[in-house]
Amino acid sequence: MADARGREVAHAALLVTLHRSGLLAFPLLGRLLVEFTAPQLGQYTGLFAGTLEPAQGGIEIFVLTNANAGHRNLVEGQVRAPGHGHRGALPVKRTANFKERGRELQSMRILGLETSCDETAVAVYDGTAGLLAHEVYSQVDLHAAYGGVVPELASRDHLRKVLPLLRKVLAEGGGRGGIDGVAYTSGPGLVGALLVGAAVARSLAFAWGVPCTGVHHMEGHLLAPLLEDEPPEFPFVALLVSGGHTVLARVEGVGRYEILGASLDDAAGEAFDKTAKLLGLGYPGGPQLALLAERGRPDVFRFPRPLTDRPGLDFSFSGLKTAVVVALRGRDLDDQMRADAALAFEEAVVDTLVTKGRRALEATGAGTLVVAGGVGANRRLRARMRAMGERAGVRVVYPRVEFCTDNAAMIALLGHLRLSAGQRDDLAIRARARWPMTELAPPGA
Ligand code: KG4
Ligand code: ZN
Repeated sequence: MADARGREVAHAALLVTLHRSGLLAFPLLGRLLVEFTAPQLGQYTGLFAGTLEPAQGGIEIFVLTNANAGHRNLVEGQVRAPGHGHRGALPVKRTANFKERGRELQSMRILGLETSCDETAVAVYDGTAGLLAHEVYSQVDLHAAYGGVVPELASRDHLRKVLPLLRKVLAEGGGRGGIDGVAYTSGPGLVGALLVGAAVARSLAFAWGVPCTGVHHMEGHLLAPLLEDEPPEFPFVALLVSGGHTVLARVEGVGRYEILGASLDDAAGEAFDKTAKLLGLGYPGGPQLALLAERGRPDVFRFPRPLTDRPGLDFSFSGLKTAVVVALRGRDLDDQMRADAALAFEEAVVDTLVTKGRRALEATGAGTLVVAGGVGANRRLRARMRAMGERAGVRVVYPRVEFCTDNAAMIALLGHLRLSAGQRDDLAIRARARWPMTELAPPGA
């Protein structure tokens, strides 16, 4: 089968089993063909073969992923190329053959997939034309009833949403024939959720015969401001504030990060979420707490600015929620008081982040501060950090709000930066729950 540019393409089929979930799903050509519960991989090969029979004419590549083998193995990857005798893999014919087209690497067009937590996101980034298409599906409604992300539900929902989103984004982004490479978030995040994007991305790249790379979610956040019209120039200081991470880093270039400070306990977003829960707000807490704080009266409560009274660039936010509990103990909590507490909490976090941001600028002599990650969407933080930058004669840069929270535009962009510099992964599907940023290196290093 050939695409519009005459390039050989193949259909990809993939099989994903989600760790411990007992769910095995088989999305094929955009449709969920089979769903088994409690599968024992290896014993059901006859069943697979029967299921595949009607579609076999359309399948040129079959990729088998056994995620049930255990998390530890996933670091090294689980996928084998067809024909390597993997039990359960069907014989396939490989027709796709990646030919480097004459186009410069810099103008590569990259498909990006993000499924690390509770957003399914797909995007296409083109080195020449910029961002061509991006879509985010948020699972917020799914998890709201539980007051937080339920990993099993997240994985299953990614599985349901990823292929329809992919089809939409590919249609908007010039079709799959134009894709020169695929990037996916391979960590840190929920392993089951990561696996969905990783398996889809790796399988597609394999089927299309294009290079693929797994990328670091927080590096995506860090470089997201490069999606904007006036991107920051290296070197700069980055403050990464998300649900799982609070990091200050000096950024020399792609993959060249010196960690200046990090949270010793809760991340800033986590502190927002936990305090929001205390105040009776739903999930996700950060944006709801910020909304409530708008009605708060200043100076009713005052909470500590943790670790600002001593030198250093580390953070500690876990004590703040305790301070909120203590301040509200024994009081009749009405709406106004909850709003007052929300405002005081937000002030404490923002003050702390601004103080440490300013210190990092002073320590490095950098002229630019980038603020990224979900908490970077916070309006008070954006305004206060900008004001600090003006006073200090420093440029403060944010991605637009939709690229602060989880998205695939940043993943496609990062994929472009790495793939166009020659980075190539092997066939392994990589999903890592933990992945310290200190392990990151420049592309090709
Ligand atoms: O970067 P992100 O979307 O996902 C992770 O990689 O963690 O960050 C999510 C975090 C959540 O903790 C959420 O409550 C917080 O960012 N957040 C906010 C706001 N919007 C999202 N926190 C404070 N104010 C906001 N406007
Ligand atoms: Zn994130």
